Amino acid sequence: MSEMTGLTAVVTGAGSGIGLATAQNFAAAGARVFGLDINEGAMAGVAEWIECNVGSPESVAAAFATLASRIDVLDILVNNAGIGAVGSVEDATEAEWAQVLNVNVVGTARVTTAALPLLRKSPAAGVVNTCSIAASVGLPQRAIYSASKGAVESLTRAMAADFIHEGIRVNCVNPGTADTPWVARLLDLASDPSAERTALEQRQPSGRLVSADEVAGAIRYLADPDQRSTTGAVLAVDGGMDGLRVPSR
Ligand SMILES: NC(=O)c1ccc[n+]([C@@H]2O[C@H](COP(=O)([O-])OP(=O)(O)OC[C@H]3O[C@@H](n4cnc5c(N)ncnc54)[C@H](O)[C@@H]3O)[C@@H](O)[C@H]2O)c1
Repeated sequence: MSEMTGLTAVVTGAGSGIGLATAQNFAAAGARVFGLDINEGAMAGVAEWIECNVGSPESVAAAFATLASRIDVLDILVNNAGIGAVGSVEDATEAEWAQVLNVNVVGTARVTTAALPLLRKSPAAGVVNTCSIAASVGLPQRAIYSASKGAVESLTRAMAADFIHEGIRVNCVNPGTADTPWVARLLDLASDPSAERTALEQRQPSGRLVSADEVAGAIRYLADPDQRSTTGAVLAVDGGMDGLRVPSR
């Protein structure tokens, strides 16, 4: 992949997990990276933190005002910040529906809209959304989360169509279960975390969890300005979970 020297990127949710790995990947390749997150997390020395809650229109507007005071052009936007919800539709509350859809779906649209004036100044802008295997596969106890990621996948294609004539590409990655603090928090809630981790590993034909670095590498590929013909694409990074019917060993 091309070097990223001279490119500027925004990664939402860059304080942890997939967002942090993406910021590290971009920064190591020479990009200037801004991390928009409610927490600085572990991004110090990797990305410039701008406090931002993607679920809040006011917070996003303030973050992009700060960003616009520091840069003239944005080449890459990674809409990665997201939250989960556990349960079936019977368990889901109206408040949970509103919160998860607001952060995961409207947050992606909101941040992209705020970024467009800066993206339009780039000669080869790219947007990458972190979607999920939950968009394409029925997973138990993930009703709200799955609905939100299905919407992110559809939104990816719709935005790709809307902006193709402006040279702005929009793609998404669909990770399987990834070894991040998010999943560690879920495992901590299980009665037997070790057995639960084994079950998650065996759910993927590869027999292992996806690493955050693997997802970051896929995001890097989709963000690469040289990939001018790749837009509206959904790139699975899931150990074969979506496309294969191979029992894990
Ligand atoms: N871990 C997985 O198994 C997995 C699988 C598929 C997709 N994903 C997706 O990957 C993305 C990142 O997940 P992760 O596993 O790295 O999680 P993580 O919890 O390790 O990191 C998420 C980051 O997002 C930030 N964040 C949360 N809400 C925010 C908000 N409203 N505004 C700004 N920042 C916010 C958090 O502070 C944190 O730094 C999410 O969109 C998630 O849905 C994760």
